[in-house]
Amino acid sequence: MQQEAYFRIRLSTIRPSKATSFDIYLNINGQMVHYLKAGDKLSELKIETLHNRDTGNSFFVLTEQKQAYRDWVKEEMNSDDLNPFEKSKILRESSVALMEDLFENPDVHKALDESRPIIKNFIDFMEQAPEAMGYMISLSGHDFYTYNHSLDVSIYSLGLGSVLSYGRADLEELGVGSLFHDIGKRNVALDILCKKGGLDDHEWEQMKRHPQYGLMILNENPKISDAIKAACFEHHESFSGNGYPQGIVGQEIHPFARIVAITDTYDALTTQRSYNLPMKPIDAVTMMRDKLAGRYDPDFLKAMYSVLFKLKAAA
Ligand SMILES: [Fe+2]
Ligand SMILES: [Fe+2]
Repeated sequence: MQQEAYFRIRLSTIRPSKATSFDIYLNINGQMVHYLKAGDKLSELKIETLHNRDTGNSFFVLTEQKQAYRDWVKEEMNSDDLNPFEKSKILRESSVALMEDLFENPDVHKALDESRPIIKNFIDFMEQAPEAMGYMISLSGHDFYTYNHSLDVSIYSLGLGSVLSYGRADLEELGVGSLFHDIGKRNVALDILCKKGGLDDHEWEQMKRHPQYGLMILNENPKISDAIKAACFEHHESFSGNGYPQGIVGQEIHPFARIVAITDTYDALTTQRSYNLPMKPIDAVTMMRDKLAGRYDPDFLKAMYSVLFKLKAAA
C-alpha cells in the first residue's frame, strides 16, 4: 500500500446526517477501494454494518485531502448539533489517526508543525466544555500504545497546565512538548518497545536513551523552543535528583518536564496493559505522593488532585 498517499481515519468521526468534504477509501486486503464520494453522506446502515469492520486500519482518506478532513473536524467541533461527548469522540479519534502520521513521518519538522492545530483544537475545546478532558481520556482506542499514551499525556498536561493558570501561548508549547515527549522512541528497536514483561540490562540501556534521541530529533528543527525540547529531554529526571539522563534536581528541571514526569507516570499507572491492572486515578496519585515520594514536584503533584476532580466531573 502506498502509505504516503493515504492516511487512516476512524469511521466513528463521520456522522450520517452530514455530507463529507473528502473521499473515503476502504482497504480490502491491501487494495484501496473508493468507498464514498466527497459530498455524499454515509447511510446509517452503512455505518452500522461497517463499524464492526473498522479495525482502525480499514478506512482511509487521500493525503492531498487532509486539510479538507481537518477543516471538516473543526466544523464539527463548532456544530450546535453535537453534544460535548460526541465532539470529544470526534476530536479524539481524528487525532489518533493523525498521530500515526506524526510518529511515522520521516519529516519531523512537518510533523511538529502539523501537531499545532491538534493542540489548538484540544485547548479550544477544553475551554469551551469543562468536561471535555474527562471525555477525551475515556476514549482511548486500540491503537499502538505510544500514540494513545502521547495523546493522553498531552491532554493531562494541558489539564495540569490550566490548573496552574498557564496562559494560552504556554499551554500550546506545553501541549506540543508533551505530545512529543517520547518521540525519541522512534530510534528504539520495536521489539524492545513492544516486549511484554521485563527488559534485560542491555535492552533497558537502549530504552533509557529515548530522551537523548528525542533531543537529537528536535534539535534538527531550529524553530523548536527550548521549552519543548526540555519537556522531551528532561521528562525522566526526578525532582530529588536520581533520574536520567542528567540527574538534575528540583527547579533545575524545566517546569514542562516536571509536569510531563507526573502525567507520564499517571497515565502509565492508570492504563490497562497486558501485565498489570489499571489503578484508580486517586490511588495512582496517592501512590506517586507516598511510595514514589520525592520524584515529583510536590506543588505540581498537589495540583494533580484538581485535575482528578475535573476528570471526575465528566464521569
Ligand atoms: Fe519517556
Ligand atoms: Fe511516556
